[in-house]
Amino acid sequence: MSADRTLAPFGRRRLAVAGRETLGPYVVLSVADPHGPAPDPGQFAMLAAAERWGGGADERPFLPRAFSVARRHDDGRLDFVLEDVGPGTERLCALSAGDELWLTGPLGRGFSPPRDGRRPVLAGGGVGIAPLMIWGDALGPAATTLLGFRDAAHATGAALVPGARVATDDGSAGHHGLVTELLVAELEGAEVYACGPPPMLEAVRALCAEHDVPAQLALESGMACGFGACFGCVVPTRDGYVRLCVDGPVLDAAELEHVA
Ligand SMILES: Cc1cc2nc3c(=O)[nH]c(=O)nc-3n(C[C@H](O)[C@H](O)[C@H](O)COP(=O)(O)OP(=O)(O)OC[C@H]3O[C@@H](n4cnc5c(N)ncnc54)[C@H](O)[C@@H]3O)c2cc1C
Ligand code: FES
Repeated sequence: MSADRTLAPFGRRRLAVAGRETLGPYVVLSVADPHGPAPDPGQFAMLAAAERWGGGADERPFLPRAFSVARRHDDGRLDFVLEDVGPGTERLCALSAGDELWLTGPLGRGFSPPRDGRRPVLAGGGVGIAPLMIWGDALGPAATTLLGFRDAAHATGAALVPGARVATDDGSAGHHGLVTELLVAELEGAEVYACGPPPMLEAVRALCAEHDVPAQLALESGMACGFGACFGCVVPTRDGYVRLCVDGPVLDAAELEHVA
């Protein structure tokens, strides 16, 4: 099962940063996109700062980077949750209100509604919280959200999903252990939606397969174009390779042998 996609307008849009907030190690960047189409939950955008994005003495980051749309406000503002892991995220995290960026999107296929009246259970790891925010907004109180973080500092990100239950690796906030330990108790009658680092997604996939529970996984891979042209983002499925940017980033767990 895969969702339809909201198609991005041709070309990239030059948009203004409307706000910036820090939450522990995460930066929430709000971007004014009043004329862009409403993204489906789970879709993403390719972002690049309008200034200082390669081409100077330091050529990096040069290519745009992929980010899940985390929230859409009524006035068209789009929120992104960023973690600084390299030159692209560092540059984007340094933007503030009034700065501009290039956005291409919304791109890809997002989440599909739960099958057969199943209960939506959302499981996020670290910055994987991002696509679950907009999906939780769409599902409303029907959704149960479980979030795993490294420690209490990272768990401050859980404030973005009021009512979420938290687990931390070091026990400094919430349940001491992995988010999959919280998930086990929620599997009965559930459809699971997950986003996070590959080992977490593989654990979710294996757990759901073992209990015969359907799951949709928002995956990541290195993306150079974001719209199907470069084949840089391919991932193996049971039916062969797919381009994650157009066939995903949300894939049905049953399509995957494992998450690498
Ligand atoms: C569909 C999609 C949605 C994403 N959503 C978010 C989001 O909401 N918030 C967020 O902070 N990040 C998100 N990412 C990841 C983000 O695109 C990368 O962190 C970013 O490209 C890193 O760029 P960089 O120049 O900062 O670092 P780089 O120098 O490019 O990479 C830094 C480190 O991260 C690793 N890395 C880079 N890109 C990826 C990737 N796509 N998957 C796994 N490891 C990677 C590299 O191997 C390296 O170890 C998403 C990626 C995809 C494909
Ligand atoms: S990122 Fe270029 S084909 Fe997917």
